[in-house]
Amino acid sequence: MTKEKILKIAKEKNIGFVRLWFTDVLGFLKSFDIPVEELGGALKEGMGFDGSSIEGFSRIEESDMVVKPDPNTFQIIPWIKEDRPVAKMFCNVLEPDGKPFTGDPRYVLKRNLQEAKNMGFTFNVGPELEYFYFRNTGGTEILDRGGYFDLTPMDIGQDLRRKTVLVLEKMGIEVEYWHHEVASSQHEIDLRYKDALTMADNVMTYRMAVKEVAMNNNLYATFMPKPVYGINGSGMHTHMSLFKGKKNVFFDSKDNAHLSKTAKYFIAGLLKHAREICSICCQWVNSYKRLVPGYEAPVYVSWAQRNRSALVRVPVYKPGKEKATRIELRNPDPACNPYLAFSVMLAAGLEGVKGKYPLPPQVTDNIYEMTEKQRKRAGIESLPDDLFEAIQITEKSALVRKALGDKVFEYFIRNKKDEWDEYRRQVTKYELGKYLAIL
Ligand SMILES: Nc1ncnc2c1ncn2[C@@H]1O[C@H](COP(=O)(O)OP(=O)(O)OP(=O)(O)O)[C@@H](O)[C@H]1O
Ligand SMILES: [Mg+2]
Repeated sequence: MTKEKILKIAKEKNIGFVRLWFTDVLGFLKSFDIPVEELGGALKEGMGFDGSSIEGFSRIEESDMVVKPDPNTFQIIPWIKEDRPVAKMFCNVLEPDGKPFTGDPRYVLKRNLQEAKNMGFTFNVGPELEYFYFRNTGGTEILDRGGYFDLTPMDIGQDLRRKTVLVLEKMGIEVEYWHHEVASSQHEIDLRYKDALTMADNVMTYRMAVKEVAMNNNLYATFMPKPVYGINGSGMHTHMSLFKGKKNVFFDSKDNAHLSKTAKYFIAGLLKHAREICSICCQWVNSYKRLVPGYEAPVYVSWAQRNRSALVRVPVYKPGKEKATRIELRNPDPACNPYLAFSVMLAAGLEGVKGKYPLPPQVTDNIYEMTEKQRKRAGIESLPDDLFEAIQITEKSALVRKALGDKVFEYFIRNKKDEWDEYRRQVTKYELGKYLAIL
């Protein structure tokens, strides 16, 4: 897409306003509107804004920043019903001198993708974002009794899922299928995999579209990892592969598991650095309430074909489907910053490829049923128990510091320490229920 083409489309479609989208370090979508008359200038020079009001961006004394729209991300927003349509564009955040702002999560991902490109690789990603529908933000009343792939008349989500898919398709986002998930009130819409930058943008749009459609139907959609105790939480299993041109270099027809050496090094890299990158893939205190035994969410660091109790799962190879050879990382959750999460996944995998890391044997048993002794003997580590442990491990990680860059890395660590500190001071309903009457 060129500047000229966008201006032509904007004219043809009688666009009235354009929303300029970018994200802060925690992955919240930021947006400001411009009238279409400003679009030419924005595409050429960018638009100034106050960076000191954005989480993790800049201090007040250096707050002048610029957003420059990425021409490839121009799309009309279907849920805004105005006389003149409104479009959106994802932006790159720049310093006033036009240099990329190193604190911009989108730039962080682009930098890591450039490193993969220097090695000849394209990084493709297919995340499965799960979410819940509730009545509103006031509580977690369950709205249906459905389960995995259930279709019941009570499943008010079936209409909303379909409406959301129509919105996503109108925005050029390909959907593979959609269904009710394991937990009541829980749903999933599966996007067709894409290069990681396009997919990170798509994840931001997906979260917005799901919430907008829910709101337009008087419901509330949430990507909170574990909103209800005792039922499955919402994950973002992330399928990934490396391509060279049109060739999927994770595939090897001669291997038992049809996995190439590159794929095995990549898995070994993910496993070796799993605990270091965990705080980026599962960034909230609540994220760790999902990573407990008994809910298909991973707790231990291992890999296997098929086995859904493993951290890294290799879906079964289907003859003739070489392009679909992939690996699935199962601990990320849909409340992560996709730009940062995809960056650290790629960095960990590539570290394995560069270092030719040996791949430990796969664990085909149900790890949840193994004793601590058996896990120790098999050399199976656990993921961090909570955000505090996760952040301490990340803080010592040279890999994550390099992948995120000093600015984002230091801000993230500081912010998450504050979050934990605030959390640990809370006196929770659970404590009152358990202790007040007996102590
Ligand atoms: N080569 C590839 N690289 C990256 N992602 C891919 C590739 N091929 C397919 N995918 C993506 O992998 C995802 C597979 O999703 P699917 O729901 O089938 O996974 P699953 O883990 O088997 O399902 P579930 O977790 O719901 O049981 C899709 O997003 C698909 O686009
Ligand atoms: Mg999956």
